[in-house]
Amino acid sequence: MATQDELKQQVAKAAVEYVKGGIIGVGTGSTANFFIDELAKVKAKIDGAVASSEATAQRLRNHGIEVFDLNSVDGMEIYVDGADEITEHMHMLKGGGGALTREKIVAQRAKTFVCICDGSKQVSVIGKFPLPVEVIPMAQAQVTRALEQLGAQVTLRKIKGSDQVFVTDNQAWILDVAGLKITNPIQLESEINQIPGVVCNGLFARRKANVLLIGEAAGVRRQTYS
Ligand code: A5P
Repeated sequence: MATQDELKQQVAKAAVEYVKGGIIGVGTGSTANFFIDELAKVKAKIDGAVASSEATAQRLRNHGIEVFDLNSVDGMEIYVDGADEITEHMHMLKGGGGALTREKIVAQRAKTFVCICDGSKQVSVIGKFPLPVEVIPMAQAQVTRALEQLGAQVTLRKIKGSDQVFVTDNQAWILDVAGLKITNPIQLESEINQIPGVVCNGLFARRKANVLLIGEAAGVRRQTYS
């Protein structure tokens, strides 16, 4: 029986088939890390990468892959990233690692979003995993109240095992929003973004995945949506 890490590694390997050259958009998290390690093996084929977080940029550089500023790049064929939840409609919940805003920005510039994850991430309805919402620190209390009015339980994210607030690469904070039944992720994504002080939320429904590679005991399953 394959471990979760082995399943993540399988999909990371499968994603390399979509790397044809040029500049690659790269996500953040444990599955994206496996992808970076696989990308390093074919680095001669590409010009470099755009990173969705400081951690990803560091890992790419450690492998000798050039990291480009997004503003200097015309566009990308693919963006490869994991997800915390994904539906059959390719709508995703992301941001467990706190990189949601840069992930959404980089993904927006790519023609094809290749989502890589193990089978545990597939859900019928998004929302069991608390929805990450990045906020400007001064707006934390009022955004919390607005989200509570939607019926959610809101927690300010702290660094694991400490009392210190988790600060994103954008010097903002994350609210983890539990208890939402997300039956219309496209609408909720826009609605939450309208709350003053919200930088971005972890629903990736307006720009969803185009290719899904799921790691299962029987191998990698592919689903596409163009
Ligand atoms: C990072 O902010 C997230 O969006 C990750 O892409 C997502 O949480 C998946 O992470 P894992 O691959 O570590 O499960």
